Amino acid sequence: MNARIIGTGSYLPKRVVTNDDLAKIMDTSDEWIQSRTGIKERHLVVEENTASMCIEAAKEALKDADMAAEEIELIIVATLSADHVTPSAACEVQAGIGAVNAVAFDLNAACSGFVFSLNTAQAFIQSGIYKNALVLGAETLSRIMDWNDRGTCVLFGDGAGAAVIKADDEGIMAFEQYSDGAKGHVLAGINRKNNNPYVKNDTDPTYVQMDGKEVYSFAVSTVPKSIQNVLDKANMTVEDVDVFLLHQANIRIIQSVAKRLKISLDKCPISLDHCGNLSAASIPVLLDEVNKKGMLKRGDKVILSGFGGGLTWGTTLLTW
Ligand code: COA
Repeated sequence: MNARIIGTGSYLPKRVVTNDDLAKIMDTSDEWIQSRTGIKERHLVVEENTASMCIEAAKEALKDADMAAEEIELIIVATLSADHVTPSAACEVQAGIGAVNAVAFDLNAACSGFVFSLNTAQAFIQSGIYKNALVLGAETLSRIMDWNDRGTCVLFGDGAGAAVIKADDEGIMAFEQYSDGAKGHVLAGINRKNNNPYVKNDTDPTYVQMDGKEVYSFAVSTVPKSIQNVLDKANMTVEDVDVFLLHQANIRIIQSVAKRLKISLDKCPISLDHCGNLSAASIPVLLDEVNKKGMLKRGDKVILSGFGGGLTWGTTLLTW
């Protein structure tokens, strides 16, 4: 049995912040942001938080899948910005939608989180442990950005995406996922200081810090190789793939990946123009947009590929 996506949902915060809005509060411009990244605007939470966005996205995905919350056996939320240390965002989703029969936990693999979570659900389903799962990617990145660092804060947004997964003969065909912890400093945020009385000189918490150029070169070299590896595993070529759902970090990264793989940009839908980089939420939000637009038909071959903090990266090939 494989994990097959049978429903999707998403939620973006009501507050839209354009590049011009940011230019009113920091030294930046619409021209700089758009030309470097392709981002025009992003949604930032005011009333919402990570769990509340997840709950809305989950309800939509369950409706799309025509499933009741009580039927769900596993909930995974990919996030690096859960509202609390505990309870996890996944436990809050379980309570919020009434999925009383599910086990729920969060998974932190930064921007690769949704792909890693989907692969984790696949492992549980393939082994026969669970028959279905609700997999989400959700972030309130605005909470962990340094709003004095114009090189980083303009790139990110807030949002949540969800997918309902069910055991099926078709579905996930192949995947790979990797980490390189030795390069963690390239994209990092240090959380909480240890105040136990025996710890001396613990590091102060920091907001997200990024070496943009390092991340850029990591992404453009790693993503094409990862996609090619997964296609090789399935004895397929890029021509066999109908849609490439690539992590939405920067339009120039997506263009470079498409060029290296010799694929048309028409096969690479974009949401970063109106979302910015949503980290773990970027791929499921894009998936839901593409699904709701009717761009996917049963049997289509879809690649999902993420990369980001950790460093982490991963690709999944599936049949829609
Ligand atoms: N507005 C205006 N100017 C800005 C700015 C902003 N928001 N942010 C940085 N600048 C300035 C810099 O201060 C620098 O000025 P200087 O030349 O006077 O020193 C100049 O713009 C160029 O900065 P630089 O960092 O060289 O730009 P870049 O062309 O490398 O683009 C990124 C920066 C961040 C857009 C690019 O490196 C990138 O996209 N990296 C990948 C990041 C990413 O995707 N991270 C998430 C991965 S999950």
